[in-house]
Amino acid sequence: MQIKKGQDIELAITDLAFGGRGIAKVDGFTVFVDQAVPEDRVLARIYKRKKNYAEARVVSLICPSPYRIDPPCAYSGWCGGCKWQFLDYDKQLEYKRRHVSESLAHIGGIRDVRVHPTRASDQVFHYRNKMEFSCADRRWLLPEELGDPAIDIGFALGLHVPGTYHKVLDIDKCLLQPETGNHILNDAKRFMKNSGLPAYGLKTHEGFWRFLMLRHSVAHDQWLVNIVTASESLPSVKPLADELIEKFSWVVSVVNNITARKSGVATGDYEVPLAGEVCLKERLGPFEFEISANSFFQTNTRGAEILYDTVKQYAGLSGGETVLDLYSGTGTIPIWLSDAAGSVIGIEIVAGAVLDAEKNCRHNGVTNCEFLVGDISDRLSDFNHSPEVMIIDPPRPGMHRDVVKKVLEIHPLRIVYVSCNPATLARDLGILSECYDVVEVQPVDMFPHTFHIESIAKLEKR
Ligand SMILES: C[S@@+](CC[C@H](N)C(=O)[O-])C[C@H]1O[C@@H](n2cnc3c(N)ncnc32)[C@H](O)[C@@H]1O
Repeated sequence: MQIKKGQDIELAITDLAFGGRGIAKVDGFTVFVDQAVPEDRVLARIYKRKKNYAEARVVSLICPSPYRIDPPCAYSGWCGGCKWQFLDYDKQLEYKRRHVSESLAHIGGIRDVRVHPTRASDQVFHYRNKMEFSCADRRWLLPEELGDPAIDIGFALGLHVPGTYHKVLDIDKCLLQPETGNHILNDAKRFMKNSGLPAYGLKTHEGFWRFLMLRHSVAHDQWLVNIVTASESLPSVKPLADELIEKFSWVVSVVNNITARKSGVATGDYEVPLAGEVCLKERLGPFEFEISANSFFQTNTRGAEILYDTVKQYAGLSGGETVLDLYSGTGTIPIWLSDAAGSVIGIEIVAGAVLDAEKNCRHNGVTNCEFLVGDISDRLSDFNHSPEVMIIDPPRPGMHRDVVKKVLEIHPLRIVYVSCNPATLARDLGILSECYDVVEVQPVDMFPHTFHIESIAKLEKR
C-alpha cells in the first residue's frame, strides 16, 4: 500500500517506540503515530513521509486500546511535560523495562543480562520535586481557547508543546508537582503579568521574565523559588519574593538567577538571594541535604531512595573499600554509602555542588568523603588511587570515550553504573564489557507518565 503525506489511513497500533509514540506497520513499512498506544485502532493523518518510515497523528479513535486510560490533566495530549498520562501505569513500567533491555542488546550488544522488572514510583502524580516553567511573549492556545478575546496571547508561563519552541502553553495546574506548587505558580504569574515588564520572547530574545523554577522538599514540605530573569533589577523582583514569602508559609527561599544567554536553560550566570534562606533542606533516609537552586538533585525524592539503596546493594561493600564516585553532584551517593565504605572520593564539575556536598557531609557528621572539583576527563588523568568500587552516574550523554578508557585503566573490582538514558548506558556498557560482566540491571521509574527511565547496572571484573 502507498503511504503519502496528507493521507488519512486506518492503522492498528502494535508497539510503542522510545519517545512514547505508537508504532503501526503497513505492509512492513513503519508508521510512528503520536498519542497512540498498543492495541488502539485509529484513523491517522500522515504528516511526514520519509524513505523508511512515516509519521502520523490521530484524527479519531476507531477502537481504543484496553491500556488507554482517561488522563486526569487538562493539558494531556498537548503539554510536553508528560506525554504518557493516557497509558496504563503498569504498561508504562513494562515498556520501560523492555526499552532498557532492547537498548542493551541492540546498541551495546549485551544480550544475556538480567533486566529486572521496573521498580514503580511510590507516587505517580505530584512526585517531581523540581519544575521549570518557561515565560514567553507568545501563548500557545488550546483548541477551546482559540479566538477567545479574553485571553492575553502576549504572555504565558508554563510548559512547551512538543515541536513549538517559541510559544508556551500557559499552565495553571501541573499534576507532576505537589499542589502547593501550583499556588506559587499562579501567584508568580499574576505578579509577572501585572508588573509592566515583558516576558522574554524566545524568537526576539528581548524581554525580562524568563523562567520560574520551583523546588520542593518532601521531608519538610517547603519550597525554594528561583526567578530567572534576563537582567538584574532588584526593584522588579524583590516585591515578588517578599509577596511569596509573606503569603505562603511553605516558601522558605527565593533567589534570582540572571542569565544573558539565549539558550533555554533555567540556570543563571549568577544568583542574587532575594528572601529567606539560600538553600532548601531535604531528607533522604537518615541524611539531611542542603540543595541550592542550581545544584543537581534527583527530581523524584522517594525514587532517589530506591535508586541509592540499589546502588548500595550493587556496590557490595564490606566496610573497608575505597569508592570512587564519578559525577557526584551534591554528594548524595557518597553520603549514602559512607557508613559501608572505608572512604569515598567524589568528582564533580559544578563547584557549587561540591560546596553543597562538603556542607552536607559536615551536617551529617560524615568524615570519610572527599570531593574533587573539575571535569572528570581532567581529574581522572592525574588520579592515583586504586578504588575497589566505582560508581558512575553521568548526565544524559553518558561518559566521554576518554573517560571510559580511563575507567578501564583504573580497572576497579566492581562498577555500579547509574543512567537516565538507556542508549548511552548501552553504548558505555558495550565498551566496558570488554573487561567486565554486566551482571544485572534494575530499572527504577523516577518519571511516571514520561518515557524516561533510570537504570542501575552492576558490573564485575572478569
Ligand atoms: C546525573 S547527575 C548525578 C548526580 C549525583 N550522582 C546524584 O545522584 O545526585 C550528573 C552530575 O554530573 C555532573 N557533570 C556533568 N558533566 C561533568 C563532567 N564532565 N565532569 C564532572 N562532572 C560532570 C553534573 O554537574 C551533575 O551533577
